[in-house]
Amino acid sequence: MSEIYSGIRGLGAYLPEKVLTNFDLEKMVDTTNDWIFSRTGIQERRIAEKGQSASALGIKAAMEALEDAEMAPSELNLIIVATVTPDMLFPSTACAIQNQLGAKCGAFDLAAACSGFTYALTVADGLIRSGLYQNILVVGTEVLSSFIDWKDRSTCVLFGDGAGAAVISRNFTHGKIIASSLGSDGSQGDILKIPAGGSAMPPSPETIQNGLHFLKMQGADVFKVAVRTMEDVLRELVQRSALKISDINLLIPHQANRRILQAVAERLELPEEKVYINVHRYGNISSASTVVALYEAQKEGRIKSGDLIAIVAFGGGLTWGATLIRW
Ligand code: UT7
Repeated sequence: MSEIYSGIRGLGAYLPEKVLTNFDLEKMVDTTNDWIFSRTGIQERRIAEKGQSASALGIKAAMEALEDAEMAPSELNLIIVATVTPDMLFPSTACAIQNQLGAKCGAFDLAAACSGFTYALTVADGLIRSGLYQNILVVGTEVLSSFIDWKDRSTCVLFGDGAGAAVISRNFTHGKIIASSLGSDGSQGDILKIPAGGSAMPPSPETIQNGLHFLKMQGADVFKVAVRTMEDVLRELVQRSALKISDINLLIPHQANRRILQAVAERLELPEEKVYINVHRYGNISSASTVVALYEAQKEGRIKSGDLIAIVAFGGGLTWGATLIRW
C-alpha cells in the first residue's frame, strides 16, 4: 500500500481594514516612528473593529481557503483553530467557525501562541497521514488588540490583528507536507503571557486595576530565545529530512521583529531574498502570522512548483515549531 501524505489544497487570509500606523501611535504613547521601525521593522498594523472577534476574522479567511481549495464546508472532516485570543474561554472559536460555515465535523481550538499555525498544521498532517481524515481546515486567527495595554509602549507597538486559513488535504494541490518538528519549554512561560482571566487568576476588580488581563512580555529575553530556537528547530528538521538548509527556496518565519528574522537568516546563512518578510505591514499577528505570510508569498509569485518551503515559528509557552513543504 502506498504511503499517505497530506498537503495544502487552499489558502485564505483576512486582515481588518483599519490601519494603525507608527505615526498614529506617536499620538497615543511616548514613542516614535523611528524607534519602532529601527527596532522592529514594523510600519503599520491592522486593528479589528470593536466587537469584531477572532471567529469573525477567521471565518473570512476560512471561506477564501475553501474557495481556493474548490471544496464545500460539508467535505471537511475537522476544523482546528489556532488562537490565543479566542472569542471567549468556551465554547471554542472553532465551534463558532464550524457553525458559520455550516460544516458537519469536529472542531477544536489549539493554543500555542505564535507557533499556533505550525502546531495545527502538524496535528492536521498527522491525522490525515494516519488515514483517519481526508480534509482538515486549519485557521490561525487573532484579535490581539483586545488584550494589549494601549498605554504600554513596550508592547502596544508590536502587535496587530489578522487571520489566515489553510485547507489541508490528502488530495493536495499546492504543496506536500514533508515533515514537522515541535518543541516547548514551560519553564520560561513567564516571559510572555496574559496573567489573568484563567482559573489561576480569575478576573477581579484587582486584576483589572493592575492590568493583569493585558499581554506582558520581557521583550529582550524573548528576542534571544526566539533566534536560538528557530535556528535549532529548523536545523534539526532539515537534517532529519536528509536535506540541507541551502535546499530551502523560501523561509516563512513567524513575523515578530525584522531583526529577529535577520538574525535567524544570518545564523542559517540564508540570503535575504530567501526570507519572506511582511512584518512591516501587520506587526506580530501571532498564530495568523505564518499562514498569512505563506498566503501572501504565494499570491506574490514568490513560490514556484518544486520549491522547498520552510515555515518556522516561535511564541509564548514557550513553544516553537517548523514544517517543511514541497510545493
Ligand atoms: O512572537 C514572539 C513574541 N515577541 C517577540 O518575538 C518580540 C521579541 N522582542 C523584541 O522584538 C524586542 O526585544 C523589542 C522590540 C520588544 C524591544 O527591542 P529591544 O532592542 O530589545 O529594546 P529594549 O527592550 O532593550 O528597550 C530599549 C529601550 C528601553 O529604554 P531604556 O531602558 O534603555 O531607557 C525601553 O524603555 O527602549 C525603550 N522602549 C521604547 N522607546 C520608544 C521600549 N519600547 C519603546 C517604544 N518607543 N515603543
